[in-house]
Amino acid sequence: MKVSPSILAADFARLGADIVMLNSSNADMIHVDIMDGVFVPNISFGFPVLKSISPIAEKPLDVHLMIVEPQRWVSRVRDIGASIMNVHQEACTHLHRAIQEIKAAGMKAAVTLNPSTPVSTLEDVIADLDMVLLMSVNPGFGGQKFIENTLAKIRRLRNLIEISGSRAEIEIDGGVNAVTAPLIAEAGADILVAGSYVFNAPDPIAAIDSLRAL
Ligand code: DX5
Ligand code: ZN
Repeated sequence: MKVSPSILAADFARLGADIVMLNSSNADMIHVDIMDGVFVPNISFGFPVLKSISPIAEKPLDVHLMIVEPQRWVSRVRDIGASIMNVHQEACTHLHRAIQEIKAAGMKAAVTLNPSTPVSTLEDVIADLDMVLLMSVNPGFGGQKFIENTLAKIRRLRNLIEISGSRAEIEIDGGVNAVTAPLIAEAGADILVAGSYVFNAPDPIAAIDSLRAL
């Protein structure tokens, strides 16, 4: 299982030290949550913060945009060194175009689905995707409870990926912890995002390893 720790749960007063800690861990990526206060009822941080993080991060940046019209920012996200750009299906009127633009910019393209958005909405773009991010909480905040229906959704997505011949990986975001992670792994996910479970742990590096071992 791959792990993408979410720095939304980091201590922003010592963000550099937390990035260095992640560099020394077995994390596969660093999950970066950008919120605009419009698409979700919260605001996190934006490009100036990403610009500071990017030169010290030694892991690929997995950027999750919880913003309206995310396709407007493709070149900015690429320029700060992101490896994966996640856009919400619910935020893109022209989702196909957004995916092509992300790939043309040299990034991996990922589409994120809110808990209420069905997997079937991806039928016509799944072959083009590098990753699908299923929200297992309503986006906007860390530390929320895992929505159980996500487990059935992972199975439906795995089936869609198999029948379409897509190479997309399945990433799960929200409420990942020692209880939910084994269930998510068993349902067929490839990548776990974990915010509070990693950063509130007494030993974040061990917490990352415990998820990777699944
Ligand atoms: C929520 C964010 C998540 C968040 C997860 O909107 O997309 O990435 O950091 O936090 P936890 O792991 O605490 O549920
Ligand atoms: Zn996220």
